[in-house]
Amino acid sequence: MLSGSVLIIMLIFFSCLVTVVSPLLLFPSSILTIYYLLSETNLFLQPFANVTGSLNENGVCQCSVYLPDTTFPVQKVEMLEITARVLSEKFEIELIKVSQYTKAIEMYELKIRNLTIKVQHMESTSVSYTELDFQLLKLEINEMQRLVTQLKSTLVGSNVIVEQLYVEIRNLTLMVNDLESLDKNNILAIRREIVTLQNRLKECEKDRNQTTPPSYFPPGSCGHGGIVNISKPYIVQLNWRGFSYKYGAWGRDYSLQTPEKDLYWVAPLNTDGRLLEYYRLYNSYDDLLLFRNARESRTTYGEGSGTAVYNNFMYYNIYGSRDMGKLNLNTNTLALRKTLPNAAYGNRFSYAGVTWQGMDFAVDESGLWVIYSTEESTGNIVISKLNDTTLDVLHTWKTRQYKPSVSNAFIICGVLYATRPVSTRKEEIFYMYDTNTEQEGKISIIMDKMLETVQSINYNPSDQILYVYNDGYLVKYNLIFQPMLP
Ligand SMILES: *[C@@H]1O[C@H](CO)[C@@H](O)[C@H](O)[C@H]1NC(C)=O
Ligand SMILES: *[C@@H]1O[C@H](CO)[C@@H](O)[C@H](O)[C@H]1NC(C)=O
Ligand SMILES: *[C@@H]1O[C@H](CO)[C@@H](O)[C@H](O)[C@H]1NC(C)=O
Ligand SMILES: *[C@@H]1O[C@H](CO)[C@@H](O)[C@H](O)[C@H]1NC(C)=O
Ligand SMILES: *[C@@H]1O[C@H](CO)[C@@H](O)[C@H](O)[C@H]1NC(C)=O
Ligand SMILES: *[C@@H]1O[C@H](CO)[C@@H](O)[C@H](O)[C@H]1NC(C)=O
Repeated sequence: MLSGSVLIIMLIFFSCLVTVVSPLLLFPSSILTIYYLLSETNLFLQPFANVTGSLNENGVCQCSVYLPDTTFPVQKVEMLEITARVLSEKFEIELIKVSQYTKAIEMYELKIRNLTIKVQHMESTSVSYTELDFQLLKLEINEMQRLVTQLKSTLVGSNVIVEQLYVEIRNLTLMVNDLESLDKNNILAIRREIVTLQNRLKECEKDRNQTTPPSYFPPGSCGHGGIVNISKPYIVQLNWRGFSYKYGAWGRDYSLQTPEKDLYWVAPLNTDGRLLEYYRLYNSYDDLLLFRNARESRTTYGEGSGTAVYNNFMYYNIYGSRDMGKLNLNTNTLALRKTLPNAAYGNRFSYAGVTWQGMDFAVDESGLWVIYSTEESTGNIVISKLNDTTLDVLHTWKTRQYKPSVSNAFIICGVLYATRPVSTRKEEIFYMYDTNTEQEGKISIIMDKMLETVQSINYNPSDQILYVYNDGYLVKYNLIFQPMLP
């Protein structure tokens, strides 16, 4: 329809300059602040070559150029203009979406915080719930909040997984709001729900950032080059005796013959942090989670949180002595009692922050070990490999690491790893001693923890999990191993 048009270029300079601009360079027009007007009233102005200039009253120089369609495809520019506008509108919509997600996350965070306050309130007023479940719920809500915060800070665009997670977190919030009408078992159901969500958040985080998947080493295998990283803590529950039973140990039985066997044991010490008297066994992880079908027994007495279970026997330091005890878990009878030669005992060289743990039993792929110190070692860690049948010492290694300055230790594939506290929320695996090569070394692997003190760490070779007793809470960590170093 347009047979010709006039391009009026406003120039702020005093002298008249006319630049012939290619139509493509005009796009997107919103970026270049050049005005052009399409007019049908001025169709009969001079051809392109004829340029007239005049100065208006504001000192702006105004030039009129006649451009035939063949030189200047106005319709094309118009099309480009429209396309640019559509695109920019689309972009705008996407931008709004992102900010909506961010707002949504902020709201969920607020809700979770409100919920925490509510739970705290209910805890202090309601008598129908045990303190334990709420402690647990609070910790987990905090953990979830932390994960959401982390996720938020890295959210760059709309993400289906993230969106879905928010729906689920909202569902969860609704569920917890109904808490008043729920009984103890339903609280456990919520807890499992939270755990599932936590895992999915973690998966989501991993997917976002995964470059190379960690190497896989089959359970019980020692074909790896040692620990390279550790997962976030996974809280299983508060120990069955309650919040004041801050000392103790727990784990999963390991047996070379039946590595897939499920036998979980929980051994909180008495509140004096010294006496091992009661312990519980569960034949499945589900039973443990639900405090169901527990076999509870009493023994007189063990000492400290250094307990370990291997091949259906529990090993511990016998109270007030240099002796090791081997307890048959089927019959709850002491099968064997034997002195650990030269072992320091009676809280002499216990771990940092953990009393009465003179002997720390450990289980790895090859069997039973004991970690302790002697007067001769002047408190440095001594490691002995034991014959689990006879409790005879098979071989002893002396390290140069002072035992009272480490918070705990465990053994994987004949390598001792020791931890120390970094802060109230972080622990560090900082020292290792390889009994295969008799070499010691420094490493730094940071473990997040829920509460301040780690009372015991037990490794299970069949699932490659660390079972940690953390101020009364039973916590698990997955280990990540590195490939064998050449
Ligand atoms: C340019 O336009 C002016 C007046 O509009 C006219 O006098 C002049 O002859 C034109 N020049 C050419 C080269 O066409
Ligand atoms: C959180 O609690 C405050 C005060 O009780 C309330 O004003 C706010 O609306 C609550 N927020 C949400 C998201 O429930
Ligand atoms: C949220 O809860 C509703 C009702 O309980 C359920 O139908 C829906 O599938 C849940 N959504 C998600 C994502 O879990
Ligand atoms: C993602 O990877 C980068 C580089 O490898 C790393 O610096 C960053 O900490 C990672 N982020 C998360 C959340 O793992
Ligand atoms: C170690 O694991 C943590 C938690 O899974 C993770 O955030 C971190 O990026 C890992 N570090 C390395 C060096 O792989
Ligand atoms: C442990 O002691 C038993 C009984 O004396 C013996 O049969 C077994 O070979 C010993 N095991 C090792 C690894 O020395």
